[in-house]
Amino acid sequence: MMEETICAPKTIPSALEGFSRPLRLGELSLRSRWAMAPMACEVHGDFKRNVAYYRSRAENHVGLIITGGIVVDHPLSGYNEHPDYPRFVEAQSGRLRAIAEAVHGAGGAVSAQVWHLGTQVPGGLGAVARSKDGKPFAREAEPERLPELIEAYAAGARMAKDAGFDAVELHGAHGYLLDGYLRRWGTWSGAGSPASRFAVDVIRAVRAAVGPRFPIGLRFSQWNVDDYGARYLHSTGEMERFLAPLVEAGIDLFHASTRRFWLPAFEGSPLTFAGWTRRISGKPVIAVGGFGSRHEGGPDVEETYRLADRLLADGECDLMAVGRGLLHDHGYCEKARAGRLEEMKVP
Ligand SMILES: Cc1cc2nc3c(=O)[nH]c(=O)nc-3n(C[C@H](O)[C@H](O)[C@H](O)COP(=O)(O)O)c2cc1C
Repeated sequence: MMEETICAPKTIPSALEGFSRPLRLGELSLRSRWAMAPMACEVHGDFKRNVAYYRSRAENHVGLIITGGIVVDHPLSGYNEHPDYPRFVEAQSGRLRAIAEAVHGAGGAVSAQVWHLGTQVPGGLGAVARSKDGKPFAREAEPERLPELIEAYAAGARMAKDAGFDAVELHGAHGYLLDGYLRRWGTWSGAGSPASRFAVDVIRAVRAAVGPRFPIGLRFSQWNVDDYGARYLHSTGEMERFLAPLVEAGIDLFHASTRRFWLPAFEGSPLTFAGWTRRISGKPVIAVGGFGSRHEGGPDVEETYRLADRLLADGECDLMAVGRGLLHDHGYCEKARAGRLEEMKVP
């Protein structure tokens, strides 16, 4: 569905230059290979500040802004617990439009992250019931509730497209609703219960809602907010069986969320989680996690630059997402472009 144009590097890039090359994702042109990682932000008071926050990153060489999670319109999506998170409701469509227009005005592209908090909120719903401090906290979704959850994702994506966003990213990572169902991938080819099909059904419904050419990304992770070691894909064979139905259902772009982007995904190969995702899916991939940070017992800041350069040059990723660096410094990626690496700080 989506063809990617990869410009093969002619020389080994000096630190981070490769990320300043433009990228074409289907019909979408990105000015650089830097992405702003989604970082949920509560909007208090003046919404114009939120718009300015995204605009300032787009003005400073970020190729693809991914908004912080925007909560879908569902009674248990997390909205009640977090009323200040942006939300896919008609009353906020003007706000969504303002973000898209501001980013476009600065020459950038913007993807809306579509989020349901699932079992991370008290009384929430998800693939597996969850307890906290020994007490029931959230419950398994009854099969008859799955269609309304699927529709909530589709409606959110439709609203993002109508508001002028260039893409959507389904938040299927870190322990939220969709992550729980992605973790059930082992049953996808089995009896085909509604729960086992849920993740694929969400993608199909979103594809139907936004049409054949609108880019749909999926963020997924081998960790979650309760357990940094919560892996669910243990081999490349498993990844093949996991990714194929997602691509078939309509994913154009994967966002392989890790806490350390350079670490090998599986024993016996140096290839990273992003690298395997790209090799197996054949789709463009965003790498993320720890770029520009100092790591206790691991690489220093400059070493993360070299590792990122290598990842891009070796074709293990197409974009690098930066979270905390861009949260604290709107000029972070512009500094990378200008070679002012010593000024790039991640707290
Ligand atoms: C304040 C904050 C909010 C975040 N909110 C989200 C979110 O809404 N959705 C998401 O997928 N990840 C979220 N993340 C995770 C980041 O997208 C990213 O994966 C993480 O910060 C690692 O990247 P970094 O090392 O460049 O910061 C958040 C991180 C931070 C620091």
